[in-house]
Amino acid sequence: MMPSLPHSDELIFFVNGRKVIERNADPEVNLLFYVRKRLRLTGTKYSCGGGGCGACTVMVSRYNSMTKTIHHYPATACLVPICSLYGAAVTTVEGVGSIKTRIHPVQERLAKCHGTQCGFCSPGMVMSIYTLLRNHPEPTPEQITKALGGNLCRCTGYRPIVESGKTFCVESTVCELKGSGKCCMDQEDGSLVSRWGKMCTKLYDEDEFQPLDPSQEPIFPPELIRMAKDPNKRRLTFQGERTTWITPATLNDLLELKANFPKAPLVMGNTELGPSIKFKNESHPVFIFPLGLPELHFVNTTGDEGQQQIPLNGPFLERSPEADLKSEEIVSSVYIPYSTQWHFVFGLRMAQRQENAFAIVNAGMSVKFEDGTNTIKKLQMFYGSVGPTTVSASQTCKQLIGRQWDDQMLSDACRWVLDEIYIPPAAEGGMVEYRRTLIISLLFKFYLKVRRGLNQMDPQKFPDIPEKFMSALEDFPIETPQGIQMFQCVDPHQPPQDPVGHPVMHQSAIKHTTGEAVYIDDMPCIDQELFLAPITSTRAHAKIISIDISEALALPGVVDVITAEDVPGDNNYQREIFYAQNEVICVGQIVGTVAADTYAHAREAAKKVKIAYEDIEPRIITIEQALEHNSFLFDEKKIEQGNVEQAFKYVDQIIEGEVHVEGQEHFYMETSSILALPKEEDKEMVLHLGTQYPTRVQEYVAAALNVPRNRIACRMKRTGGAFGGKVAKPAVLGAVSAVAANKTGRPIRFILERGDDMLITAGRHPLLGKYKIGFMNNGVIKAADVKYYVNGGCTPDESEMVVEFIVLKSENAHYIPNFRCRGRACKTNLPSNTAFRGFGFPQGTVVVEAYITAVASQCNLPPEEVKEINMYKRISKTAFKQTFNPEPLRRCWKECLEKSSFYTRKLAAEEFNKKNYWKKRGLAIVPMKFCIGIPTAYYNQAAALVHIYLDGSVLVTHGGCELGQGLYTKMIQVASHELNIPQSYIHLSETSTVTVPNGVFTSGSMGTDINGKAVQNACQTLMARLHPIIRKNPKGKWEDWIAKAFEESISLSATGYFKGYQTNMDWEKGEGNAYPYYVYGAACSEVEVDCLTGAHKLLRTDIFMDAAFSINPTLDIGQVEGAFIQGMGFYTIEELKYSSEGVLYSRSPDDYKIPTVTEIPEEFYVTLVRSQNPIAIYSSKGLGEAGMFLGSSVLFAIYDAVAAARRERGLTKTFVLSSPATPETIRMTCVDQFTDMIPRDDPSTFTPWSIRVS
Ligand SMILES: Cc1cc2nc3c(=O)[nH]c(=O)nc-3n(C[C@H](O)[C@H](O)[C@H](O)COP(=O)(O)OP(=O)(O)OC[C@H]3O[C@@H](n4cnc5c(N)ncnc54)[C@H](O)[C@@H]3O)c2cc1C
Ligand code: FES
Ligand code: FES
Repeated sequence: MMPSLPHSDELIFFVNGRKVIERNADPEVNLLFYVRKRLRLTGTKYSCGGGGCGACTVMVSRYNSMTKTIHHYPATACLVPICSLYGAAVTTVEGVGSIKTRIHPVQERLAKCHGTQCGFCSPGMVMSIYTLLRNHPEPTPEQITKALGGNLCRCTGYRPIVESGKTFCVESTVCELKGSGKCCMDQEDGSLVSRWGKMCTKLYDEDEFQPLDPSQEPIFPPELIRMAKDPNKRRLTFQGERTTWITPATLNDLLELKANFPKAPLVMGNTELGPSIKFKNESHPVFIFPLGLPELHFVNTTGDEGQQQIPLNGPFLERSPEADLKSEEIVSSVYIPYSTQWHFVFGLRMAQRQENAFAIVNAGMSVKFEDGTNTIKKLQMFYGSVGPTTVSASQTCKQLIGRQWDDQMLSDACRWVLDEIYIPPAAEGGMVEYRRTLIISLLFKFYLKVRRGLNQMDPQKFPDIPEKFMSALEDFPIETPQGIQMFQCVDPHQPPQDPVGHPVMHQSAIKHTTGEAVYIDDMPCIDQELFLAPITSTRAHAKIISIDISEALALPGVVDVITAEDVPGDNNYQREIFYAQNEVICVGQIVGTVAADTYAHAREAAKKVKIAYEDIEPRIITIEQALEHNSFLFDEKKIEQGNVEQAFKYVDQIIEGEVHVEGQEHFYMETSSILALPKEEDKEMVLHLGTQYPTRVQEYVAAALNVPRNRIACRMKRTGGAFGGKVAKPAVLGAVSAVAANKTGRPIRFILERGDDMLITAGRHPLLGKYKIGFMNNGVIKAADVKYYVNGGCTPDESEMVVEFIVLKSENAHYIPNFRCRGRACKTNLPSNTAFRGFGFPQGTVVVEAYITAVASQCNLPPEEVKEINMYKRISKTAFKQTFNPEPLRRCWKECLEKSSFYTRKLAAEEFNKKNYWKKRGLAIVPMKFCIGIPTAYYNQAAALVHIYLDGSVLVTHGGCELGQGLYTKMIQVASHELNIPQSYIHLSETSTVTVPNGVFTSGSMGTDINGKAVQNACQTLMARLHPIIRKNPKGKWEDWIAKAFEESISLSATGYFKGYQTNMDWEKGEGNAYPYYVYGAACSEVEVDCLTGAHKLLRTDIFMDAAFSINPTLDIGQVEGAFIQGMGFYTIEELKYSSEGVLYSRSPDDYKIPTVTEIPEEFYVTLVRSQNPIAIYSSKGLGEAGMFLGSSVLFAIYDAVAAARRERGLTKTFVLSSPATPETIRMTCVDQFTDMIPRDDPSTFTPWSIRVS
């Protein structure tokens, strides 16, 4: 029932010290929308819209008139309804500081500590640290880490972000030796690293930082204090388009409202309600907002009339109607009694990620004993995430009353609780056997904790738990990460002005942290612009029978619905489909789009489009199904050396196996975003978008519109992360938007919501590797026959190239004399998988390391020994006959073993494992040989355009895209070096098809290599022109020379060109000079695994990466660390869930977990190893992708720990640990009495909730 209310009140709050009076406050409008679109404060970013990423963090401050204090807290603006802000002061990143006024120390330090790459997460990071400092000006490192727990960053790997925060701590734990020129990593020992020159550890200068002065912070608006103190508060009502918001003035008022509107929810934090409304289509005509009522904040123990107590017991938690709140009731306080003597209460939980994650299973358990005994008097066990509500194991508890707290009781309890709590095999959420195991594993933890507690009460009477079980009691603590980064020092003779080799800050870093860096959706609204929402297929393979758009068209604000019929040119270009026509080939395929005056209208209308389908057989989802149906996208790719069949005859042993590697979501923080602007004349169109390949967007848009490419301009300033996901997909999405812009004749803003982006754009290819390996008993591998299959999805995209890369890079660092490798891309009915950092290498190489580990296990040798035995040792030829020198590989490997104290720590881990039954430690070291570039020469070319203006300032343009990797920064360094002018003279504005045509994609770690050479070439051309002038006036200034050149009619603009590395690959022969050069590396990681829950903690990682000469060590270290953490996520916790019908379930940060600050190594050491690489600019190397694979050191360390657990339990040596090693996989592989006890279902009797697609 809608209330009939006469008017809407004025909503009054403050934003950044300025009063906001909103006369038409709509309860459905959230603060993020309001600040971005109404107030035009675009520093606060949209990334997930559901409270899960922290990009939209702001600070909300309120005055509490009872305590007379101001309370500051961070809030995710996407979940804050504006109506909840009456009387509050909001601070956004713009209110903290700006380049135009004064930057705040938090912003300055985050930038100068190199805590930004793409910068999209940076305003949220600033706000989380800033809010902490407002409450605690001298925080502890732990407070910094905790404050950042809800903020996701996909680029940096968090280490520099935490480090910037730690500079505010009194006891800074940033390496004390930083800046001293000497390092605890001991560089004076004649090590191979230091042979190449002095190593530095100083990436920034703390002396430059402004001090934090809390007295300079803005004051809380006095008007809001007056409002809060006003004794005559009255009820407030805000009437929106569809809903009403009521803020009661008193508790009685609230009760009256609840009686009048019993179904109206009470909005408190809105963190449950908000996501339900947004993502589950929940709707409410009335909201009641009682947050300001003191009665809900201060417990009145006297008990008022009308109050009643509801016991927090089983029926209540299970939401049984008779025990639940009546609709007109509210909770005014929760009373949690202190536990008494002989009473033990514990909460236990397991989640995919340590912080910011819903529990996979959680439990609350309490036991009360007869005084002085271990006889159970009262027992309660509640479990969460095992059914639709909290579940009480009440029968089990009842049966156990009177029993002693001993092993027999535990054994019975486990059996009974499994009988009582049944999770059906096809239960929503999946992980059924794991959840069943957790039910009893958590019970066992509780049992141990209580036994320990009893022992502490009376050690004589109650023996303690075995020493070996002690470590099972505690969860992993959250530690503040620390570490050291080492890189080569710049030659002391290098001119001070020359920035090459210095850790120069990202050129946009300050703009990132102040929120002034402009991304696509930050661009101001354009007259007449329309918002686009996609209509996507709900079937994996079906005929489209009809599309009914009538209801959608009738909705307010809707201008048009666009479908395949509206594409004037090619709708199916290079086998990529823009709008589905006649049939759909995956869930998530774009069938149409709705263009409307607001995004909300477009989205509502998209839901109303009715599409009738008729399923088509076959529906192919997995690689296995594709193999059954012989469904492939391309022909097989193969390389071979030696005589594989012959070699198998003479080896001591042969093993065969399979490795499954699941896919990965890019999860760039800025979702795919496009602004398409049709021009009045000549069918011209301009597209602003985030892409790694503007040329491809131009090509696809021209094809879709049937116009020459010279009418289409693609402009790209920066994007909030890409990781390969913005190479191919923006071309399709660009075409989709351009068709809409063309049809409506109006500007189109197409900003994908996180869920749509995850669904439509797909990600890394899942892979199945099948191997047969022949080897000698001493671990020498003589023959390998390996087949790779990737799940390419429904269209070609980049799958052919991905397979080529997998095959060419499939030997990694190992020489196998008889080697055959084949690869094929399967065609399935999944959204088309695409490029992703490492381009197949991170998947394929896991298979290599897995079979080497399996060989080691068979030979009873440590894996590192077998890796070393089989590693390339001298100048050699790859399996495709390209010559290379693995010397830096051997150095990285040796350094990594030595500096990580690998062998000593391995012994220590073995000792730890002997003493601990339920926690195990594991170490692994992985070597890496990674090829840079593309085997097709013309993809390695690049061009640049450099203008010198008459004031001496320089504008550089090139074909590369700024994705956060710092390409523009490095190009400034190159231009500064070549033109011999300060960096401040040089500007890069954007990348555009107008200034530099036909640019190739920015990927393959080649951005700096090829664009750097092109910029260098242009600068050298200009310097050659200026040379006579400089010679005549050598003491003159740059500005004088430029003025003179103009007077002499010398052109001050030049193009630069790099023809590219002359690579080639002949697939007929399986031979070629496929890559220009190789990057080598090694990483060692140590983990601790909780065998009872499957959780793991990354204790330490050491990375040695061959960087040759780093043009900018901080950017390169940023790439190495960021890629490593992204790789670690890929190999451990990131898990895409698909139904057997091809529906992707994981479409938000709630159900797809990328690493947060708590997942990164507690100790993190990164060294850039010096080598030579004359082929590349300034003898540098491209490091964008290589670090990704090094994340697999964590996977293999987990493998090592799990193997230790299994050995102790007497289980077979070799086992299959696929990727990712999720908590579920770890737990279920650590087989024990609990995994043996759970009920198992016959797989043929049910369809699981989710399936593996690799
Ligand atoms: C990113 C993210 C992560 C999360 N992680 C977790 C997690 O790990 N574990 C977890 O359990 N939850 C998690 N949640 C869910 C949510 O935060 C919690 O359930 C939280 O307790 C909800 O509190 P709220 O104040 O925001 O509730 P709201 O969303 O404001 O309200 C929730 C419901 O409670 C009712 N209600 C509120 N106050 C009263 C009252 N006084 N009397 C009667 N009814 C009332 C409302 O009517 C409404 O139906 C997460 C949410 C987000 C967005
Ligand atoms: S938390 Fe608000 S956009 Fe992600
Ligand atoms: S810098 Fe953090 S997401 Fe890009």
